[in-house]
Amino acid sequence: MCEHFPATMAPPPKKNRALPKFLFAIVLATAAALILYSAIHTTPWSWPVPEEAKQLKNPLQPSPSALNSAKKIYLDKCANCHGDTGKGDGRDAARYDPQPANFTDPRRMSGVTDGELFYKISEGKKPMPVFKTKLSEDDRWRLVLLIRSFAPRPSTQPPQR
Ligand code: HEC
Repeated sequence: MCEHFPATMAPPPKKNRALPKFLFAIVLATAAALILYSAIHTTPWSWPVPEEAKQLKNPLQPSPSALNSAKKIYLDKCANCHGDTGKGDGRDAARYDPQPANFTDPRRMSGVTDGELFYKISEGKKPMPVFKTKLSEDDRWRLVLLIRSFAPRPSTQPPQR
């Protein structure tokens, strides 16, 4: 037996273009999602903070003694990256990517809540170290007060709920 089935084995003619259309739809949806994402997050791929952490209020009031004790910790543990005056220009800053945050930028600082700053100090994010294991809660909240004192007061209140 020597049968050939040339015609019958050929793939059936393409009846529709469902696959390319489907792929195109995926590409479109991805592009749309990315645009939406970057519209919502002014700095895309930045540092996500859980909503309930953002809502936390600073239990401490600014006072000279709170700021002084925070300043000591700051100069010891933060200034090498964030700079003595919070400009993000510490002596080690140049070697990091992303750059350490500039706390004197009123635009940046009016966009974050105290809870958000507290969360970021607590959790860290490479290259920034984790501080919840090294500093007490009060110390971290005092640092939030200090960081706020670096920025010139914004004309509008920071978003706080
Ligand atoms: C090794 C360098 C380094 C040290 C030390 C460091 N940070 Fe940072 N910090 C960074 C970097 C880098 C970022 C920016 C991270 C990013 O945007 O992804 C940052 C971001 C932050 C932010 C977030 C600011 C914002 O607007 O989102 C806060 C708050 C902060 N640091 C506070 C502190 C405090 C307080 C200390 C000391 C207790 C400290 N950092 C020590 C490198 C450092």
